[in-house]
Amino acid sequence: MRRTSIVIVIISAFLFTQLSFGVVKKSTSDFISDHVNFAVSQYEKQTNIIEGSGKVLNPKTIINGKIRYIPIIEWTSGFFPGSLWYLFELTGDKKWETLAAKYTEALDSVQYLTDHHDIGFIIGSSFGNGYRLSGNEAYRKVIVQAAKSLSSRFRPAAGIIQSWNVKGNWQEERGWECPVIIDNMMNLELLFHATTLSGDSSFYRIAVSHADQTIKNHFRPDYSCWHVIDYSLTDGSVRHKQTAQGYSDESAWARGQAWAIYGYTMCYRETGDRKYLNQAEKAFEFVANHPNLPKDKIPYWDFNAPKIPNEPRDVSSAAIIASALYELSTYDKPKYYKAWADEMMKSLSSKDYLAKSGENGNFILMHSVGSLPHHSEVDVPLNYADYYYLEALKRKMDLESID
Ligand code: GLY
Repeated sequence: MRRTSIVIVIISAFLFTQLSFGVVKKSTSDFISDHVNFAVSQYEKQTNIIEGSGKVLNPKTIINGKIRYIPIIEWTSGFFPGSLWYLFELTGDKKWETLAAKYTEALDSVQYLTDHHDIGFIIGSSFGNGYRLSGNEAYRKVIVQAAKSLSSRFRPAAGIIQSWNVKGNWQEERGWECPVIIDNMMNLELLFHATTLSGDSSFYRIAVSHADQTIKNHFRPDYSCWHVIDYSLTDGSVRHKQTAQGYSDESAWARGQAWAIYGYTMCYRETGDRKYLNQAEKAFEFVANHPNLPKDKIPYWDFNAPKIPNEPRDVSSAAIIASALYELSTYDKPKYYKAWADEMMKSLSSKDYLAKSGENGNFILMHSVGSLPHHSEVDVPLNYADYYYLEALKRKMDLESID
């Protein structure tokens, strides 16, 4: 009897220890699993509606209470399939892999698109994640062809990739010749990957040239960035420093700052060049120390918006920054960057920004801003906010599993 009691005490002590460790691990994984489960339930509803329609639809946002489905050449068309790839990766559920492949392959013809720079966003988030997770040879070919298409927009005189065409468009009315937006930093990932996948180093060289010219011309001394730099096609000189989606030419548009942080973090990963790491860190410090960054760390749509605090937040910029910071934490100041990212994710996952089940057009996050000056997509869900939130959840999960 006494021996039995001793055994019970030992087993209880063992279980208590396991439970104590379990609580620490569990509280971390609870955050991730709760929010992955929520994302799954929203995207199950979303994909059930789309699949039920019998059409191949690509949801971006809500306009006037209705889901806006977009054409495949829209810059955000890769994010819906990209989110499906992340759901597959986060859950291991084959159902998501099948859907991700279907909605990725619907974008196949985008590989030949040369009309704008966003082919990097589109192909990277869809086929890029698809190739990473499936190794599908057909996807590798799409990525390399897409990089060729993007490279056709390289303008040697300025050493950059032209973002937008001008002739006959609103960009012509602005007097621009060769506009480059800070967002374009994100397209470079496609070029780096294409060099790895093809051995053709011309893609890599274009990416490095663009990243270097952007450091030179796109940043102010405080490391905030201009949205648009307009270059001369003849001699490569800078003609204008302006904005399209920010509050003013001299303001700091929140998502532009997010693209810069993410873009240079990625450039450091791909090249190992510390000047890119430095640029990412300085661009982030601008955000971290800005007096207009709210306590919950979810930026207003522009750091200089005139009616702060009565201005819309841009949840998409927070999701992009959080994801970038998890990566940055693997290169420098791990505790500092991870703590920042964790706090942003906690805010994003609070009732202030996370949708209620079955609401918000079945997107995950509320309260993003597309382009306030164009009165377009203000205070709405956006598919790229969801995409970077899922990517951030995945990165957080990876970091915590090796702790
Ligand atoms: N790349 C366009 C945007 O960030 O709104």
